[in-house]
Amino acid sequence: MPGGLGVAVAGWGMAVPERRVTNDDLARMVDTSDAWITERTGIKERRWAGEGESTATLAIEAGAAAIKSADLCPSDIGCCIVATCTPEQPIPPTAAFVQEGLGLRCGAFDIDAACSGFVYGLVVASTMVAAGNFGPVLLVGSETLSRVADPADRSTNVLFGDGAGAVVLVPSAEPNLLSWDLNCDGSTAHLLYISGGGSRRPLTIETVAAGEQWLKMEGKEVYRRAVRAIVESAETAMAGAGVTSSDIGLFVPHQANLRIIEGAASRLGFPSERVFVNIDRYGNTSAASVPIALAEAADEGRLHDRDLVLLSGFGAGMSWASAVLRWGQAR
Ligand code: ACO
Repeated sequence: MPGGLGVAVAGWGMAVPERRVTNDDLARMVDTSDAWITERTGIKERRWAGEGESTATLAIEAGAAAIKSADLCPSDIGCCIVATCTPEQPIPPTAAFVQEGLGLRCGAFDIDAACSGFVYGLVVASTMVAAGNFGPVLLVGSETLSRVADPADRSTNVLFGDGAGAVVLVPSAEPNLLSWDLNCDGSTAHLLYISGGGSRRPLTIETVAAGEQWLKMEGKEVYRRAVRAIVESAETAMAGAGVTSSDIGLFVPHQANLRIIEGAASRLGFPSERVFVNIDRYGNTSAASVPIALAEAADEGRLHDRDLVLLSGFGAGMSWASAVLRWGQAR
């Protein structure tokens, strides 16, 4: 990827549901405890969508905040991309609801690379912006994992939360998306999946009775692969940019499990003050986790003009992805 892509993040925003679900709340629903969840995952609470909230409503709220923070109007947006693996409904794409909700007049489509979706989307959106034909692109990661987590399965439902994060990407003469690394190993698709509701297993009374609408995960196997995948991908992306971890101002990893984040960060040589963590408050929000973290880091003043940011995601597929982005104004 010689030269990188000429984009800049002009605005950002996030949205999470009002409803907080603490570990103690979960312990009243399934056989678990605050101690188990905290020790194994680092999660203390997560947000779950309430009545009237969905992947599209959260995306609209985050997208509106990002457009406002970029000092733009909806009519300025040249394309709307939504990264999600928990779409509003199977047809049409969630982006259609978001486009209508925000009053955009532009193309709109979804990307699904599970928890890597935002980093994949960043590369796709940046390629479009850098090509010069689209103007500002709104990229949203939005999820309602609570709607696909089996209420009776303590091995998954304690991990996931709902929310959305968004950025507006604008053209820049400087190649601020310096490098990226996108991966997928479809031979491990069986480690994390929802089998029901697609073309292979359309929903029927039988599939619902068998619980095929719920997310299934082999947590230990996913865990085993996660640290290695993040480390290799982050190293590839940094090598592509010609930088090392000491050049990176902030590492913003997918928030799946604090132990995975700490394991990857230490192998990559990041001290904790250069790693962004908010999993304690939101759990795993899949494609929304990286843009929520990015928006919080920006709002907290942890991203400075021209800082290099390393973004990494991994999830179902298994898919994994990293990118090195220079933060700051379009120049
Ligand atoms: N509360 C209490 N006990 C539990 C819970 C719970 N919530 N869940 C499982 N247990 C029990 C198990 O039944 C097991 O009991 P046993 O020893 O009597 O059989 C014991 O705790 C250990 O279970 P493990 O699954 O081996 O626990 P582990 O240490 O692996 O932690 C965890 C589980 C947290 C899920 C971990 O494996 C993990 O984080 N995996 C990665 C998940 C992930 O990152 N997914 C990302 C992708 S998400 C996406 O793409 C949508």
